[in-house]
Amino acid sequence: LSNDTCVDYKARIRTIPDYPAQGIMFRDVTTLMSDAEAFAAAIEDLCRPYEAAGIAKVAGIDARGFILGGAMAVRLGAGFLPLRKPGKLPYETWSESYELEYGSDALHMHVDGVSEGEKTVLVDDLIATGGTAEAGVKLLRRGGADIVAAVFLVDLPDLRGANRIRKLGIEVRSLIAFE
Ligand code: PRP
Ligand code: ADE
Repeated sequence: LSNDTCVDYKARIRTIPDYPAQGIMFRDVTTLMSDAEAFAAAIEDLCRPYEAAGIAKVAGIDARGFILGGAMAVRLGAGFLPLRKPGKLPYETWSESYELEYGSDALHMHVDGVSEGEKTVLVDDLIATGGTAEAGVKLLRRGGADIVAAVFLVDLPDLRGANRIRKLGIEVRSLIAFE
């Protein structure tokens, strides 16, 4: 975990029990993002290790990964690449389906979204089982991206998603964890 600005991110995340399904403790990051100081600090903390890494693309996962990824891309001097839910991207896409804590879904990427060897950071608000992030990794690798890291505001370590992504040979960082 890395939180060099010492903002209490955990206190700024709201928890909704039984959303969107019975038994899920939903970690709602909109309350953190609406706090100007906490949002700016989170972008800073997520970007810090990659400021001088020559990042060409930040790939954000639909939907909350877009909010973080756009801000990170500007800060890192990188382009932004959206990894989207089905039926949203207008051009030719590749897709990867995956299982969730509560259902299944798929991610799409434009086939020209990354170029061979481009240094890329993948970002989402939260990693749970890692299924979504793994789909993102597969899409980026299909495009030839050099994935430097996958970064998240929140890790749910009980669901072992970070380990799953590390097993793919990718550095994983998150600002906080909810056990
Ligand atoms: C949440 C979260 C991640 C994903 C993590 O999104 O924003 O994208 O779940 O779960 P995983 O690690 O088990 O794959 P969700 O699928 O709820 O979609 P949304 O962004 O449309 O709300
Ligand atoms: N995605 C998967 N599990 C989640 C949770 N508990 N809270 C928010 N987003 C999630």
